[in-house]
Amino acid sequence: MSDIKVDPKQYIVNDEPYYQAIADEVELYEAAYNVRMPMMIKGPTGCGKSRFVEYMAWKLGKPLITVACNEDMTASDLIGRFLLDKDGTKWQDGPLTTAARIGAICYLDEIVEARQDTTVVIHPLTDHRRSLPLDKKGELIQAHPDFQLVISYNPGYQSLMKDLKQSTKQRFGGLDFDYPASELEVEIVSKESGVDPVMAEKLVQIAQRARNLKGHGLDEGISTRLLVYAGQLISKGVAPQDACSMTMITPLTDDPDMRDTLHAAVQTFLN
Ligand SMILES: Nc1ncnc2c1ncn2[C@@H]1O[C@H](COP(=O)(O)OP(=O)(O)O)[C@@H](O)[C@H]1O
Ligand SMILES: [Mg+2]
Repeated sequence: MSDIKVDPKQYIVNDEPYYQAIADEVELYEAAYNVRMPMMIKGPTGCGKSRFVEYMAWKLGKPLITVACNEDMTASDLIGRFLLDKDGTKWQDGPLTTAARIGAICYLDEIVEARQDTTVVIHPLTDHRRSLPLDKKGELIQAHPDFQLVISYNPGYQSLMKDLKQSTKQRFGGLDFDYPASELEVEIVSKESGVDPVMAEKLVQIAQRARNLKGHGLDEGISTRLLVYAGQLISKGVAPQDACSMTMITPLTDDPDMRDTLHAAVQTFLN
């Protein structure tokens, strides 16, 4: 029986990701990494959480292994499993195990999507033990000194049925993220999409207007990601009205009144 090997180099972030710091999150994260504190990045969808983690992995020069969590995910999907092929049985590490072995930053994106019985497998890695038992294989892994666990968490999504247990939450330090302040968001949208700052500012103004509707008919505000999408279409020549409808209205709501309200906001700021 043999194990499938991975090359840590494949997880290195080679090119500097563009990340516009919002406050002192870069320094705070570095301090947390220095003591290998597990981190929870909290904030609404599309506000820059994943980009931030990529940037930090690059800045710290550590491999990054990202897992998009979902409710069908099992503990074995994180830890690993035996595979059968023509040469016999092989053990394949899951992403969490690989990260613990090679000293990567393991980013569990949208952790609340995973079932609680899956989430508990991170417990021994997130306290003084820093270990991971591979029960099926009969191996106990001691995490590499560089290993760190990071999770993202959207506070808007959780319900009583779908939330992290306190016993899981209290293993992490946390950083609050939100949509960037106007001037920074204008800069981000302009840099990421190629529209000029004047157009980027209009998009940001529309979003800010719409974000006030959160809780008044909209579940989530228009994210920075959607503004970047709008900008990308506009810089490819799509009419701004159409670009805004496609990216900032249609995906967000099916409610005809809410759509009218959003269309009116788009109209106001594009003129
Ligand atoms: N601070 C930032 N610096 C650079 N780009 C950003 C920033 N915040 C948001 N973005 C842009 O918004 C997009 C969505 O961000 P992402 O990190 O994927 O969101 P999240 O993980 O919070 O859902 C990114 O692809 C990037 O274009
Ligand atoms: Mg993300």
